[in-house]
Amino acid sequence: MGDLPLYLVQEEEWSQMLLLYDSAIKEISTKLEILNNEFKLSHQYNPIEHISSRLKSMDSIARKLRKRDRELTVANVMGYVNDVAGLRVICSFSQDIYRIARAIERQSDIEILKIKDYIKEPKPNGYMSYHMIVTVPIFLSDRVIKTKVEIQIRTIAMDFWASLEHKIYYKFEGNAPQGIRAELKECADIVAYLDKKMLSINEKVREYAEKGSVSDMTIDADYDEAVSDDMNIIENEADNNEKALKMGVNPSVKKSVRKEPRKRKLWR
Ligand code: GTP
Ligand code: MG
Repeated sequence: MGDLPLYLVQEEEWSQMLLLYDSAIKEISTKLEILNNEFKLSHQYNPIEHISSRLKSMDSIARKLRKRDRELTVANVMGYVNDVAGLRVICSFSQDIYRIARAIERQSDIEILKIKDYIKEPKPNGYMSYHMIVTVPIFLSDRVIKTKVEIQIRTIAMDFWASLEHKIYYKFEGNAPQGIRAELKECADIVAYLDKKMLSINEKVREYAEKGSVSDMTIDADYDEAVSDDMNIIENEADNNEKALKMGVNPSVKKSVRKEPRKRKLWR
């Protein structure tokens, strides 16, 4: 047994650890959903467009510990890997990012371990996002374990940029040609401008709404919106597939389920 990687002899502890991280994702997702619903009730709009979550694969956990010269043990994962449980929160407007972050920070059971504000200070490549490493208590039958979660909060535009940059990074194995890097940086500047502009338009529309000078009419949601309206803001592939399968729908064709379009408020 001496030569075996440690995780193989810690199988039970490993499963318990994954249960903790999975539970932590659920706890934070619920908190975010509650905040979103509360905002919807008091401000008539959703600050959160959608949320996705992931549990880090064993391969990437192992790679991360190897880079830090640490053995693959449950204790080392819990101590040194901050992003086993990851949540990505996508907002429409940049100010919503800070609203959500502040609301999370204020919760008494949440402990903030680290904050990286790549919006105030973007990375040299142009990357923008607000990162929080927090702990949330997980109540087991006989003890409470504070479990780490990485929360990344950004706008739709920032997320669009980050997903393209991520693909390019891997295509060139981290060595993208200078020209492409320069163009990406240029796009990041456009993203920052776009977010600023969209926020200012939204504020103007809100002023009109406060004066009562915009119509309160509803529009017919088109078919896609009607379907996505019914889906949870939390996008967890496994969950969605499971839900879809329970309803007897093949997940890959769920958009083709015919539904009556619903009336939808113009002002979200
Ligand atoms: P790791 O990168 O996870 O080892 O942690 P770190 O200590 O460098 O933390 P940081 O907050 O800088 O990054 C955490 C995560 O943010 C990464 O794992 C990525 O998911 C994302 N991220 C950070 N920088 C970039 C970037 O330049 N481009 C993209 N697309 N994503 C990034
Ligand atoms: Mg990471």
